[in-house]
Amino acid sequence: MNSFSFNSDILHVENVSLVKISKNVGTPLYVYSKKQFENNYNLLTSSLNKTLGKKYDILIAYSVKSNSNIAVINILNSLNSGADVVSLGELKRTLKSGISGDRIVFSGVGKTSEEMSFALDANILQFNIESIPELKMLSEIASTKGKKAPIAIRINPDINAGGHKNISTGFEGTKFGIDYKEAQEAYDYASNLKGIEIVGVDIHIGSQINDLEPFRLAYEKVSDLVFSLRDKGHNISNIDLGGGIGILYNDSDHIFSLTEYAAMLKQTVGDLGCKIILEPGRLISGNAGVLLTKIIRIKTTNKYNFLLIDAAMNDFLRPALYEANHDIIEVIKSDKNNNKKVYKIAGPICETGDVIKENCYLTNPQEGDLLAILCAGAYGASMSSTYNSRSLIPEVLVSGKKMDIIRKRISTEELISFERIPE
Ligand SMILES: Cc1ncc(COP(=O)(O)O)c(C=O)c1O
Repeated sequence: MNSFSFNSDILHVENVSLVKISKNVGTPLYVYSKKQFENNYNLLTSSLNKTLGKKYDILIAYSVKSNSNIAVINILNSLNSGADVVSLGELKRTLKSGISGDRIVFSGVGKTSEEMSFALDANILQFNIESIPELKMLSEIASTKGKKAPIAIRINPDINAGGHKNISTGFEGTKFGIDYKEAQEAYDYASNLKGIEIVGVDIHIGSQINDLEPFRLAYEKVSDLVFSLRDKGHNISNIDLGGGIGILYNDSDHIFSLTEYAAMLKQTVGDLGCKIILEPGRLISGNAGVLLTKIIRIKTTNKYNFLLIDAAMNDFLRPALYEANHDIIEVIKSDKNNNKKVYKIAGPICETGDVIKENCYLTNPQEGDLLAILCAGAYGASMSSTYNSRSLIPEVLVSGKKMDIIRKRISTEELISFERIPE
């Protein structure tokens, strides 16, 4: 995490101290590094360009769900990224951030007619279709507008990508995609619909994938399918390979390099002559953010030393939802000569599952100390809620010495103002 480093024993993001940010904005809050988003995007594109060469047409469609703040999407826009969206809300955010329709793909298993209509008007690059009824509805809506909707069908290749079951999507029995065995039939059906133009094939097999093999198996299946669809006369110019590249959350994680990934991509789908669309999310945003939190109380029971912090599962759901294990460090380095003790870090929410980390080794933490939950830039703020009537916490973007509040704290008073007691 090179944009987050210690300077005089205080954790900084780029050139700004996290202590200073906490004083200005209060805790808990998310803090992002602009440079880290840029580095992550540039590392991916340079690895692909080096291995594949310039002749390939590649679109990085940043997966907006991982971090959907418009300032973040705008950084990606200035790097020429496209976007992968899964709702009307994400589409509106993406357009507002400057990414044009011709660089947007629309994924998601339950698109509504309103979402389809809006996306058609925005002339998006591609709809990733997940069922025959969805195809029919899109065709009808496009026809009434006198348009043809560009589509790829999301294929479920029945591959177990590993990782937590809640983020593995490409095996039989999930709600996602159309079975690989039924793909030919689905494309034949689509080719007869008036409002549909077939442009591609799409897959997304899961998230936080740290082994190349599931990707290789899935991409080989995509390649076979493209050849057989072309044999049948279908025009396949795009392959959308989804997201899912894993990142290092802690020292025990191991992940392939992006150069190895690019070589595998070239081997499996490099000779198809297709535009290659990738939908990375956490690879771009994960290590670009931390969740800054304060210790409210230290509570010792017979079994555990609890550190109760002011961030909770409503602010950061990943540990409760996916058993995610994030490194947590002290913002001000404490005396290195002191022995570390193990703590269980929990939030104030009235749920046993509101545990942010089971075993955290820290040196003499005190009430009021600041902690940083690392690698919290992806699926952090974008998954937050107001459970237990807690406020939505702020997001701050740092660039060099400059810090900007890119989402202000949304208070309980503001949330209550949307409610009404009937007379
Ligand atoms: C269709 C689709 N594309 C891309 C992504 C991004 O995945 P990741 O953040 O693991 O790259 C997701 C995540 O769930 C997804 O569902």
